[in-house]
Amino acid sequence: MSPGSTRGLLLWGLLLLTSSATPATSQRNTVEVWVRAPTSSAADAGRLEQRTIDLATAPWVEVDRFDAQYGVHHRYRGVTLQWLLHTGSVPGMVDLALLHFDNGMVVPLPFRDTTAMERLAPFIALEVWVDSPGERVWSRDLPDISRKGEESEDWRPIRFQGGKFVVQTLWHPEVPEVTPRVFSPWQHVDRLAGVELAQSEAYRRQFQGSGSAAVANGYRTFLERCQFCHGVRQVGAHFGWDFAEPVPLHTYRDPHSLWFHAKYREMDATARGLMMPAFPDLGPTQAAALWAWMQAIVTSGPAPYRP
Ligand code: HEC
Repeated sequence: MSPGSTRGLLLWGLLLLTSSATPATSQRNTVEVWVRAPTSSAADAGRLEQRTIDLATAPWVEVDRFDAQYGVHHRYRGVTLQWLLHTGSVPGMVDLALLHFDNGMVVPLPFRDTTAMERLAPFIALEVWVDSPGERVWSRDLPDISRKGEESEDWRPIRFQGGKFVVQTLWHPEVPEVTPRVFSPWQHVDRLAGVELAQSEAYRRQFQGSGSAAVANGYRTFLERCQFCHGVRQVGAHFGWDFAEPVPLHTYRDPHSLWFHAKYREMDATARGLMMPAFPDLGPTQAAALWAWMQAIVTSGPAPYRP
């Protein structure tokens, strides 16, 4: 069986699972917080000082926010990320909060950078103020993001069951700013499920690989565009396919096919509810560098996490 058809089957399996496994009533209001444990091999990412925070009993605050993912203002009740981060002791060498979302995304945030934190003002919304005629209430029903065009099937809206992560700008410190904006990880996140505290250089070094200048460029592009959704051998995010397992991506896509996939997928991919966004500004040289990096990182494996 070709990798493509294996993936097709896997995808169908996933769809069947997700369509049957989420009763609308299940509100998950807990977030796990832990410190990433140093590892001897790459895959055995352990957890130190793990704690489960019940947001239902946390001190809620009320905020009036521009929600950049919805693109509108809302009045919310919920918990600030800052509060969540300070529910336990944070080791001094730790400077990165890896935000784990229900869908498998992992978005790194340099939480000691006060400028970045003020700019994003990260908040976990648990209730939204619904202010329509005849109905003025706090509602737990945070609307799905579902974009239906005339001809498009929106088969996968983003749902927020049990809370919504809110930032007030689509800006992210690791994503280059271009006008108009082509990509922001914040457009794709759903409920915050966990916060992993790590040391940024050691965390990134896991994905670095070694080799030519192309490998170094590919690594940078991975950090700027792919790390939020894709991991390597279960290190990192797992919203999109792992770049190494079960089949290393570089073995069945050549640099050109990789470029084609990332640049020319339907330009309205996200709007249509497809899961991977298009990167219309990605050049062939960048894609070739990504391919070289994938080959290098799959061959050497992600490095252990050693802060
Ligand atoms: C917002 C999340 C997200 C980002 C960012 C993202 N991907 Fe994906 N990617 C996915 C998902 C989900 C899939 C599987 C379903 C699909 O194709 O939409 C996928 C699928 C793929 C595939 C297809 C695998 C196959 O079957 O051949 C390739 C190749 C790929 N991604 C490469 C990349 C590269 C390279 C980057 C960075 C330039 C990237 N992706 C960024 C979510 C993402």
